[in-house]
Amino acid sequence: IVSAREAAATAPSLEALRALMEQFDGCALRSTATRLVFADGNPKASIMLVGEAPGREEDIEGLPFVGRSGKLLDLMLAAIGLDRSKVYIANVIPWRPPGNRTPTPQETQICLPFIRRQIELVDPAILVTLGNPSTQALLSTRDGIMRTRGRWFDYHNGARTIRALPTLHPAYLLRQPTYKRLAWQDLRAIATAFAALESP
Ligand code: URA
Repeated sequence: IVSAREAAATAPSLEALRALMEQFDGCALRSTATRLVFADGNPKASIMLVGEAPGREEDIEGLPFVGRSGKLLDLMLAAIGLDRSKVYIANVIPWRPPGNRTPTPQETQICLPFIRRQIELVDPAILVTLGNPSTQALLSTRDGIMRTRGRWFDYHNGARTIRALPTLHPAYLLRQPTYKRLAWQDLRAIATAFAALESP
């Protein structure tokens, strides 16, 4: 169990990482989920988005953000001229928690090396954490999303430092549509950072 997790942390490619995660049996969520939800989008993208965990539709289709919040995420990306061919999307937890419950801190700790290695392999210039769990797990902060959103953080990946911007999770925006204006500010910051990459 431990060796599979350790191997994943140094997997030489996304394909190898995925294969190791498929076999990994050290997280109880795997036995209740239908399948692994690894990632979607372009592995060469300079923007990577990380959500919390798959929901029902994601668990069925095996792709992240394909349900209602995924539809909103696609609209948010489209608002700044992006789509899944220009970004890479994954979750901190790759298996659906039963009934979409919040992953436990232990489950998050078990899965963390997988997403960290995935970020390392994609090596994006910009990391966007969607919602509190992803922000707190990856950016080593205990602050809530209303404090962290829209602020640039440094995400440390070995020797590399990646700029990271937390924003509100689309599932949260579906419940609290008045906060869409805050997400819009964050999207504009992402678009500006992306444009700066394109035109050095
Ligand atoms: N919410 C997430 O955080 N991730 C998904 O893939 C779907 C919904």
